[in-house]
Amino acid sequence: MKPGTLAIHGCTPPRADEPYAPSAPALEMAASFHYRRAADMTAVANGEMEGFVYQRYGNPTAAALQRQAALLEGGESALACSSGMAALNIALLAALRDRPASILTANVLFGETFQLLRLLEQQDVATRYADPCDPEAFEAALQAADTGCILVETVSNPLVRVTPMDAICAIAKRHGVPVVADATFTTPILSRPLEAGADIVMHSATKYLAGHGDVLGGLVICRAVHADWMQELGRHLGPNLGPFHSFLTIRGIKTLPLRMEEHSRNALRVARMLEAHPRVGAVHYPGLASHPDQAVADRLFDRGPDGDTLYGGMVGFEILDADEAAVFRFANALRLAVRATSLGDVHSIMTHPATTTHRNIGAGRRAQLGIGDNLVRLSVGIEDPEDIAADLAQALEQV
Ligand SMILES: Cc1ncc(COP(=O)(O)O)c(C=O)c1O
Repeated sequence: MKPGTLAIHGCTPPRADEPYAPSAPALEMAASFHYRRAADMTAVANGEMEGFVYQRYGNPTAAALQRQAALLEGGESALACSSGMAALNIALLAALRDRPASILTANVLFGETFQLLRLLEQQDVATRYADPCDPEAFEAALQAADTGCILVETVSNPLVRVTPMDAICAIAKRHGVPVVADATFTTPILSRPLEAGADIVMHSATKYLAGHGDVLGGLVICRAVHADWMQELGRHLGPNLGPFHSFLTIRGIKTLPLRMEEHSRNALRVARMLEAHPRVGAVHYPGLASHPDQAVADRLFDRGPDGDTLYGGMVGFEILDADEAAVFRFANALRLAVRATSLGDVHSIMTHPATTTHRNIGAGRRAQLGIGDNLVRLSVGIEDPEDIAADLAQALEQV
């Protein structure tokens, strides 16, 4: 079945032993489950009988979300976590089992991911950086030292570079190194990294998957070989997503295919409008012919119903000759797009990476990475595209 169908039917498969099935998963808020017979509880705890014992070991609503996520990504097992960062932590720990304590990752990453890697470094997990958009250089970096796992984002934040996941996974396979993919920006509607050869995929479900600005959550989906260890980490480290947020995420995923088509369509229109605007310099969007990764996106990303590639909803752009104060004037003048650090919601969100998501990495590193003070990140929502474009145009007049 196609992702658009799995998103809707994946969490509530009809049960053979019941004459009816609910149209939505049950919201089971219980922290623990009471057993009539003590032996049954032991059997469930030992994995000899299906069931639930205690919410940290799993609950029915999160289990429905995990089923939906595993189906969508084509994975064997999924774990719903309380945030994207919790999911990333679990994904890395799962990938590094019995491996050298060393991660090779992309030189441009979500700011908080740099922080997680810094914390791991304090636990003697070494990190090395290379450019995954240059597979030869990435392979050279891989060969330069022992590597426990590779971590890449399907689309990087905030410059919207597209990782050639197929090429990176082929290199990883040659060297026997597992790949963790952060697929937050693309979602399983644009691409499914496990199909390209990745081993573990994770999402901040806070973003497109839940999609409505009311959930903090994460998901890890993996191949069979990592499944037992990932689930064990989930049981004992306690990263689980609670039932209510699992319920909201399931509900969000049901409309994910429609939303991703609309985000992509709107973002392309907005990117074209920005590219033609006299106050805008570079525009970073893989749907534009000027973007260095358009061909990679066309190769890797799914197409929408009209046959056009879905490039996603994230656009970066640079306001010409703007310093921080000028960008803030632009930000404050926005009437429709909200000023916030999140992304992937139904509403448009403007973020200034230099003072928010990437402020902790320092000005020197930002400059090296091409994240200037004049760079704006826009998560294009699904409002009417003419209203979004008009809002941006009037705010650019205030710069
Ligand atoms: C690419 C990416 N990965 C991970 C995260 C972390 O997700 P969360 O905020 O849900 O912990 C984010 C959050 O913005 C993100 O953009």
